[in-house]
Amino acid sequence: MRIESVAFVGSAADLASCPQRPLPEVALSGRSNVGKSSLLNVLLGRRGMARVSATPGKTQLINTFLVNDRFHLVDLPGYGYARMPAAEHAKLRRMVHAYLRQRGELRGVVQLLDARHEPSRDDIEMLEWLRTAGLAFCLVPTKMDKLRPGERKPALARLMRGLDLPDDQPVVPFSSRDGDGRDALLDWLDITVSGARN
Ligand code: GTP
Ligand code: MG
Repeated sequence: MRIESVAFVGSAADLASCPQRPLPEVALSGRSNVGKSSLLNVLLGRRGMARVSATPGKTQLINTFLVNDRFHLVDLPGYGYARMPAAEHAKLRRMVHAYLRQRGELRGVVQLLDARHEPSRDDIEMLEWLRTAGLAFCLVPTKMDKLRPGERKPALARLMRGLDLPDDQPVVPFSSRDGDGRDALLDWLDITVSGARN
């Protein structure tokens, strides 16, 4: 898929405020600071489209982008940021869960995991939920550039071993720094928003 056009549609504080236009939608999910907003910018080829920050907890609203006038790509707030006040964290969690459970247009999820670390309990829970819900998802190990070339394969193998995913699970290692994984993820998006099976 080529990116022809990108437009910011809006920020929503709850499911009811998400865009009404009935287009297929794909959301980015993952821990705070894992690189969701960075990936969105690289994928769409628009620097600064989604806000990136070294401080976790940057994205606190459901941000929707219109791509090629064909589908919505959604940047979700991250989970698992320890320093966020508990009440605020619980509110974000409720918001994201309601979105994932009830957003009728949702066709799939790009689930990001830091390639360097063990998946957190929240990561495991999210993956289990995605599988139970039967929602198509692509697993995206991020920040691959932070691993030395020789470390990449073993790190991925270690990550996958702990996750118990089916053999045909789509997995696209990614680096927002050097663009690795961009074409493969665009292919997955294309298939997913077309409604074809992965
Ligand atoms: P929240 O909005 O808090 O949920 O975070 P996020 O998942 O949107 O993360 P964000 O894209 O803001 O990135 C967090 C930090 O990681 C920033 O300092 C990015 O520059 C850095 N980062 C993201 N992706 C990569 C990557 O592929 N490689 C490297 N080296 N750094 C990255
Ligand atoms: Mg973000």
